[in-house]
Amino acid sequence: MKRLAKSHLNKIKPYKPGKPIEELKRQLGLKDAIKMASNENALSPSSRVISSIAKAARDLNRYPDGGSFYLKKELAKRFRISPDNFIIGNGSDEVIVFAVRTFLKSGDEVIIAKPTFLVYDIASRVEGIRVKHVPLRDYRYDLESMRKAITKKTRMIFIANPDNPTGTYVTRKEVERFMSGLRRDIIVVFDEAYYEFASERSDYPRTMRYFKKERNVIILRTFSKIYSLAGLRVGYGIARRDLIESMNKVREPFNVNSLAQTAAIAAMYDEGFVKKTKRLIKMGKSYLYSELDIMGIMYIPSATNFILMEIGPDAPVIYKKLLKKGIIVRNMEAWGLSGFLRVTIGTDRENRRFIKALSDIWRQL
Ligand SMILES: Cc1ncc(COP(=O)(O)O)c(C=O)c1O
Repeated sequence: MKRLAKSHLNKIKPYKPGKPIEELKRQLGLKDAIKMASNENALSPSSRVISSIAKAARDLNRYPDGGSFYLKKELAKRFRISPDNFIIGNGSDEVIVFAVRTFLKSGDEVIIAKPTFLVYDIASRVEGIRVKHVPLRDYRYDLESMRKAITKKTRMIFIANPDNPTGTYVTRKEVERFMSGLRRDIIVVFDEAYYEFASERSDYPRTMRYFKKERNVIILRTFSKIYSLAGLRVGYGIARRDLIESMNKVREPFNVNSLAQTAAIAAMYDEGFVKKTKRLIKMGKSYLYSELDIMGIMYIPSATNFILMEIGPDAPVIYKKLLKKGIIVRNMEAWGLSGFLRVTIGTDRENRRFIKALSDIWRQL
């Protein structure tokens, strides 16, 4: 039956998400478990967002607004640009797929760092596009080498900034150098899913500059991370109007559900919640850093809400032992980072539970 699928799909491994809490509880008969595996917000959405969803639920007999009119209008107000410069996706994941499906054709090449967010690679290979991987240098995107990897066939370059799974970012100067001589028929996708965690750093790039200069860029943001709406699936792309118009042709008519559209608008204006999340991450990060320092575990300083740790050859064993204690982190083998685990910063209680479990396991090794 495998033969019925397009042959190039046989080589593609589907994206494997972090283990869901309920599945772990069921598998191990645990009463409670915590998930620190998928870079979600540890806080539930605010009551303001939940009540907006409850209100919108009354109209679920209707199809959603296919063009996400009000969400685009609110985003346009916030960014002081036109609603026509936005495309809304069922998560920013979907906008990655739109970009690949719209702008790449057989014979084109795409440049992707390695390791980085896996969806760029999967989305490209599903479309039969050749992927050129450029290794990270010191756990950071190596923009110089990515530029050197460009060939006549290169049409798109993905830059996760900050990056997942490392949590590092490329600076304004590095991006400026990269963009300055770049061929104009190459589209650069700046994936800024973790923007809000990094944007206060003075050397974090302002990619809206390139959009304003009418360059071929697509900037991706999401409501899944700081806005705590991962379960609803809503993200967006910002680009020149002609690029957006083209991407709208591959978008399904009702790709973003009505609860997601309403919740995103409510979340956008919930500045208190954003501040609270930032505080939680800042405190959690410094607590986790200091505990990892005490244990002598190497980690990559992160500009995001997660930390990549180098545990060593025992990482898969530690990963499994943590699961047995009801703690889900991410084993990084699938990224080619054997010996590494990635942990999403949780609430204070979750962070302490993780550290207690990790240090108990660590001592017994
Ligand atoms: C770098 C990066 N881009 C995009 C996404 C996808 O986010 P969304 O939930 O908006 O699809 C993630 C999610 O983990 C991510 O890490």
